[in-house]
Amino acid sequence: PHRDFNLISGIHCPEEVDEIQNWEIRDSDIFIITYPKSGTIWMQQIMSLIEAKGDVTATKDQMNCVGMPWIELAGSKKDFVSAPSPRIRVSHLQYKFIPLGLKQKMGKVIYVARNPKDVLVSYYHFHKYASMLETPEDFDSFFEKFLEGKVYGNCWFDHIKAWYSEGDSMNFLYITYEDMIQDLRSAVDQICAFLDRDLTAQQKESVVEHSTFENMRKNPKANYQAVSSSLLDHNKGAFMRKGTIGDWKNYFSVAQNERFDRVFKEKMKDPSLTFVWD
Ligand code: PPS
Repeated sequence: PHRDFNLISGIHCPEEVDEIQNWEIRDSDIFIITYPKSGTIWMQQIMSLIEAKGDVTATKDQMNCVGMPWIELAGSKKDFVSAPSPRIRVSHLQYKFIPLGLKQKMGKVIYVARNPKDVLVSYYHFHKYASMLETPEDFDSFFEKFLEGKVYGNCWFDHIKAWYSEGDSMNFLYITYEDMIQDLRSAVDQICAFLDRDLTAQQKESVVEHSTFENMRKNPKANYQAVSSSLLDHNKGAFMRKGTIGDWKNYFSVAQNERFDRVFKEKMKDPSLTFVWD
């Protein structure tokens, strides 16, 4: 861990992560912040399409992570400094690491949250798929590891609580994965309004159409099939795995569920956030 935050050796560099606070922010910058497995690549696809006014060719030519990289990846600063506006970036970092400019209401932050039971299940599968993460022995051991925060992103509760409670200090949009599943068109409206992007109804429809689970699954640049097999073992999984609400019910035992509910109740008193669980 670096400053109590788990980094992944080989792809993150602690000194560079410390530098992020001092990155100079432009008013046009947009940061998509998520705890892992909460809808990051989905929001990348939506943002690519919004910026292209619904034209899908933009998302077929290049992987979204090329134009919207994770800021914590080693070497990401060079490109951040020279990139033209608007710069759109993603991150799983905790609040304490972010560029100070964001806390002075420069740039914009979109925080995508997902109910943590589904996050846990999605992350469990991702640990089998991603070569840089330790393969879990079984679901039960991963369940413990997640609750202890011994994963990249650390404790889910700490992550969301810090970001959410500091929301007022930033230009901040909080949106959930479940909102997006239930009404993607409204989510797109909300994002466009927050970012002052003027799209016609037809262009918004196109954003929605090309960011559905099925269409992203068919688009290799959107589903990260093309990411090197040294990072992702494509025989063992896929980014576009299931894309639903409530898959946790297929994994959690009754005892695990009761325990998770107790922890949730205890930790989420303040701020009190509610989720759709199924
Ligand atoms: S990562 O590794 O943190 O960047 O992963 P992340 O992109 O945050 O999360 C991956 C999960 O998001 C689901 N996903 C979607 N669900 C519904 N619709 C669309 N369009 C979509 N795109 C991605 C993806 O399937 C992963 O969830 P699970 O539950 O594992 O299927």
